[in-house]
Amino acid sequence: MRTLAPLGRRRVAVRGAADVGAYRVLHAADPEGPLPQAGQFYMLAAAEGWGAGADERPYLPRAFSFLDATDGRLSFMLEDVGPGTHRLAQLGPGDELWLTGPLGLGFRAPDDGRRALLAGGGVGVPPLSAWARELTRDGCDPTAVLGFRDAHHAAGAALMADGDVTVATDDGSVGHHGLVTDLLAAALDEDDHAVVYACGPPGMLEAVRALCAARDVPAQLALEAGMACGFGACYGCVVPLAEGGYVRLCVDGPVLDADRLGHVPVH
Ligand SMILES: Cc1cc2nc3c(=O)[nH]c(=O)nc-3n(C[C@H](O)[C@H](O)[C@H](O)COP(=O)(O)OP(=O)(O)OC[C@H]3O[C@@H](n4cnc5c(N)ncnc54)[C@H](O)[C@@H]3O)c2cc1C
Ligand code: FES
Repeated sequence: MRTLAPLGRRRVAVRGAADVGAYRVLHAADPEGPLPQAGQFYMLAAAEGWGAGADERPYLPRAFSFLDATDGRLSFMLEDVGPGTHRLAQLGPGDELWLTGPLGLGFRAPDDGRRALLAGGGVGVPPLSAWARELTRDGCDPTAVLGFRDAHHAAGAALMADGDVTVATDDGSVGHHGLVTDLLAAALDEDDHAVVYACGPPGMLEAVRALCAARDVPAQLALEAGMACGFGACYGCVVPLAEGGYVRLCVDGPVLDADRLGHVPVH
């Protein structure tokens, strides 16, 4: 599902920000923007102090899935992993953002009477949270399994506002002690008439892809790649397909059917 972005970037006000465990949630006004589809993303850059560091980083905008889009307000969830996320995590009311989007292709509804099973981890939560909200609004009853490193990161599970959520942590400090794919396998053992929707680190997505392929369960994966433009111009985000050839993740994804991939690439 694709909502087309208006031409050009928009300068918008930051309305608020809060820490949720290891993550930062950022709220921005976007009164002019169209309503995005879950799984679509935005290119963000701080209006001030971007490209201004000693080594000029961050220079290009960075890609972020939206967490929520309501009443002209967009919310994002990010983890401070580098110069771009670090700068964005410093923003608060009174600051402004450059924003382009919504971009890319989002999730498609389950067909064939299948149930929606959402699987993710870490900063994979935002598109799954937005998708759970859309599914619930449309009368589906999504189930989610989420994996995190530890209790500090697992606080991010609270950002899944809709559906049943079960958590796994690597260190066992919250929920199941182990991998999110353990929970996914158990859920599919119970009932595999499902479509799996997944977002998370490449290793997790590859495990989800392989697990679903082995069980002949359809899956839609929201992938990540380094993105320089976000709208198809730079070819920096290409991923190889099982049938040969490549797609640009920013226009043909970031959500791709898992069976189009031989494996999930690590960028
Ligand atoms: C469609 C899409 C949606 C995204 N949604 C979110 C989101 O909701 N929240 C969020 O926190 N992040 C999200 N990301 C990831 C985010 O855009 C990148 O991590 C970004 O590069 C961070 O910028 P930085 O300057 O902070 O770090 P960088 O200097 O760019 O990178 C810091 C570290 O992260 C690694 N890295 C960078 N980019 C990626 C990537 N795309 N995949 C895997 N590892 C990477 C680098 O190798 C490095 O170790 C998304 C990416 C895409 C493509
Ligand atoms: S990010 Fe430039 S083509 Fe995809």
